[in-house]
Amino acid sequence: MCGIVAYVGNKDVGPVLIEGLKRLEYRGYDSSGICIAGKNGLFIRKAAGRISVLESILDEDKTIPASHVGMAHTRWATHGAPTECNAHPHLDDKKRIAIVHNGIIENYSAIRQFLTAKGHTFVSDTDTESLAGLIGHFYEGDLAKAVQLALHEIRGTYGLAVMSASEPEVLVVARRGSPLIIGVGKDEYIVASDAAAVVEHTTQVIYLNDNEMAVITPKGFRTMTIDDVPVTKDVTAVEFSLEQIELGGYQHFMLKEIFEQPEAIANCLRGRVDRHEGRVVLGGIAQYSRDIVRARRIIITACGTAWHAGLVGEFLFEELAKIPTEVEYASEFRYRNPIVEDGTIVIAISQSGETADTLAALREAKDRGALSLGVVNVVGSTIARETDAGVYLHVGPEVGVASTKAFCGQIVVEVLLALSIARRKYMSQTVLQEFLTALDRIPEQMRHILEQSELIRQVTTQYVKRENWLFLGRGFNYPVALEGALKLKEISYIHAEGLPAAEMKHGPIALINPGMPAVFIATRGSQYEKLLGNIQEVKARGGKIIAVASEGDDHITKVADHVFTVPDTIEPLQPLLTVLPLQLLAYHAAMARGCNVDKPRNLAKSVTVE
Ligand code: AGP
Ligand code: GLU
Repeated sequence: MCGIVAYVGNKDVGPVLIEGLKRLEYRGYDSSGICIAGKNGLFIRKAAGRISVLESILDEDKTIPASHVGMAHTRWATHGAPTECNAHPHLDDKKRIAIVHNGIIENYSAIRQFLTAKGHTFVSDTDTESLAGLIGHFYEGDLAKAVQLALHEIRGTYGLAVMSASEPEVLVVARRGSPLIIGVGKDEYIVASDAAAVVEHTTQVIYLNDNEMAVITPKGFRTMTIDDVPVTKDVTAVEFSLEQIELGGYQHFMLKEIFEQPEAIANCLRGRVDRHEGRVVLGGIAQYSRDIVRARRIIITACGTAWHAGLVGEFLFEELAKIPTEVEYASEFRYRNPIVEDGTIVIAISQSGETADTLAALREAKDRGALSLGVVNVVGSTIARETDAGVYLHVGPEVGVASTKAFCGQIVVEVLLALSIARRKYMSQTVLQEFLTALDRIPEQMRHILEQSELIRQVTTQYVKRENWLFLGRGFNYPVALEGALKLKEISYIHAEGLPAAEMKHGPIALINPGMPAVFIATRGSQYEKLLGNIQEVKARGGKIIAVASEGDDHITKVADHVFTVPDTIEPLQPLLTVLPLQLLAYHAAMARGCNVDKPRNLAKSVTVE
């Protein structure tokens, strides 16, 4: 979802900016641009398409000024087609002010009308250009002041960087609803949408909060609110290193992150299970543990894969913590006028911590009095900082657009949270220990499952020409069926539907035609016999059965056409294992269809707009 990189320091700024944009490519974009402060004014180049297009324009351009101050942008269009003209930076009509912007200016047309009435002109279809014009309208030689005046007039979200031809060594940055961090290096500052573009230069960062801004020059930086009230910001260390972001020998980030899951889950568990005492340790929510144990209702809100993890959470909290729980699509919850009575906890699940719908749903629930908890991967992200408390996933940066290790990390955190509540309510030490022992075995069991990747590839390639698939599961594996379908859809563009297996006979079974692939999650468990019946319903109509089954299950091999096996574990933990074959199935299908696995069409890693 678009990206900003800006720099003030001692390096040649052009290469720093281009390299920074490349580190943000995974966020999804459709065009890019750069602005460099030169002696003769602002040097600006823009291009539709990949960053490589912009890079080749710069390689051929001998007029690039030597400079140490600049900014660059990758755009994910919201207003105006992804063309060169609509790419950022945008200028005011006097060409004194340049801006790069992530987010949406909701009242841009009113601003545009106001400025047009004042004689200003526009060249693009974007909302952002209205903000550039408004800053230009207020500009009287003090860039920070003009930005503050303009930001008070706009509604919407922004992460932005602004430069002026008249103040070539000044960089003004600000945020509301779209992330921005400032890397504080040795006599250099690098501003970016996320740490991936910063860690190459420094691991010391400052996180701007909403309605905060910074004025950065070669001599240093000041942080303040957009009301010009100085704020002191802590400098913290970024948790991950550059190599963690690199591919590490894998062909794609998604494959790397699928295979990283054993280590990621071990890291997620690290320090959170006291095996000696037999208890769960979640420091991030300790101060609210009494409220959490006494909760009368839990609302989980999320989007996409995180919502699927939330559905597993619904079953976990009801089964283990005995608290009525519902999972809500954030995009629906935020507009639904929901009832949030006393004793309600809202849990916002988000890998990026920046998903606009989830953030809005969280704010809605908080406004209505709920205690808010975050289950987030990106440290310091907006959702992480706006919840009252939370538990980080600690699964490391997830770069592939299709979420994999974060899904499992989200489930592990929900298990730990449900167990910590259960132990304080009714669960015995013995039963808790059984869960903790089963959790401890998950990373090794995952490694074992991942060894089937080649088998999964061979089976998958037999069906990649089929344009419609079904994914079916029951109980704790019903959300896994939804997740398996989403994975296949979003990276191979094959249409797939996930269903509770029993729902098939209420309509979708009409879809079954000879040769149609139906993936069943048919592990040993309380509904295994029922699942066998559902498999027969599909088989009788010529469907091809691909089963995710328990190791040692000889019966399933008689009814399924293909079987991927997973080791036994207790039912509430099965999703951590049964999802792995489905992730690999989607990956291999995408590869067989020549799709761009890490940057699927139309998708962004973090959807920071509605
Ligand atoms: C998952 O594979 C998708 N990329 C998407 O559904 C994602 O899960 C959703 O946009 C939520 O993102 P978040 O976890 O960062 O909030
Ligand atoms: N709304 C702005 C545009 O469409 C910015 C989009 C983005 O966040 O990249 O240009």
